[in-house]
Amino acid sequence: MATGKPSVELNRPDGELDISLRPAHFTDFVGQARVRERLELATDAARARGEALDHVLLSGPPGLGKTTLSYILASAMGTNLKATSGPVIDKPGDLAGLLTSLETGDVLFIDEIHRMQKAVEEYLYAAMEDFVLDIMIDQGPNARSVRLELKRFTLVGATTRSGLISAPLRSRFGIVNRLDYYGADDLKAIAERSARILDVDMDDEGAREIARRSRGTPRIVNNLLRRVRDYAQIKADNRITRDVADKALRMLDIDPFGLDEMDKRILETIVHKFSGGPVGVHSLAVSVGEEPDTIEEVYEPYLIQEGYLKRTPKGRVATERCYERMGIRIPDRHQRELSL
Ligand SMILES: Nc1ncnc2c1ncn2[C@@H]1O[C@H](COP(=O)(O)OP(=O)(O)OP(=O)(O)O)[C@@H](O)[C@H]1O
Ligand SMILES: [Mg+2]
Repeated sequence: MATGKPSVELNRPDGELDISLRPAHFTDFVGQARVRERLELATDAARARGEALDHVLLSGPPGLGKTTLSYILASAMGTNLKATSGPVIDKPGDLAGLLTSLETGDVLFIDEIHRMQKAVEEYLYAAMEDFVLDIMIDQGPNARSVRLELKRFTLVGATTRSGLISAPLRSRFGIVNRLDYYGADDLKAIAERSARILDVDMDDEGAREIARRSRGTPRIVNNLLRRVRDYAQIKADNRITRDVADKALRMLDIDPFGLDEMDKRILETIVHKFSGGPVGVHSLAVSVGEEPDTIEEVYEPYLIQEGYLKRTPKGRVATERCYERMGIRIPDRHQRELSL
């Protein structure tokens, strides 16, 4: 297989681009219909009751819209959002500072919430449940606990690794949603929306080509669009067609099917080292040099959705489509395994 770019490069958050292209309301948020519907219903109901929204946990691979949805939630509630991230809150005092600054209904957005320190996480439990914070002041014989009352706020937590969220933390979120990779039509609609905002001339097939190569990920759509736009500007009269998109993305070494380096390494390992599987996720993880839960939560969902991989009770199995994609004839023995 040809080498593809690692998605870490194409899926890197780009501050300015991300913000200018970020949908601000539910109505411009493309796809994820079920998640959107549930969140919209919850915000409508909470607003009508004049209450704060329940705490929301959003999980899913990078670049699918977790941060975007958090801002949309605050705007739908008509409240403010304060953003922080798990690793940034080093001590309970930092958390207390954030929580006491919130007004009723405000959203505290904690990104990468799975990376929060245990000691901080424990304070969050009472804050989420009873809207109080018991903090210790002074040390030694003068140490005493002081109770701070908090306004009813909404915690929105985002994580790429839902498997690492502890059970007590998870159970305190009233609304839990997982975002999944986007299908081709949604990705195309996102490419078209972004092209309109950036004032780029692009035809239908050009949008479809960018969508196909973006690994199910809106952020990658936007990053590819920007690169194809550069190419079109210099070499194609500022117009993105299928041919222009294809030439630009080929020049950048972007895989025609949107797979990245790790995707390919996973598929190659299953086919070559494990004769197409079944192989357990732990053996697979050791072979490709990645954490088992990153494989399960970040890589596999896309490979399964695209039909390259199947999850069976005995382990992961390469499908016929995977062999086709690699240009290898599927061994009879493996064909039999697949039809079981
Ligand atoms: N449903 C969508 N419709 C249109 N654009 C979207 C959608 N979801 C995401 N985007 C675009 O993709 C960009 C990345 O999304 P976002 O930052 O919300 O992802 P994330 O899930 O928070 O990723 P990470 O895990 O890396 O923080 C956004 O700035 C936005 O431009
Ligand atoms: Mg984010």
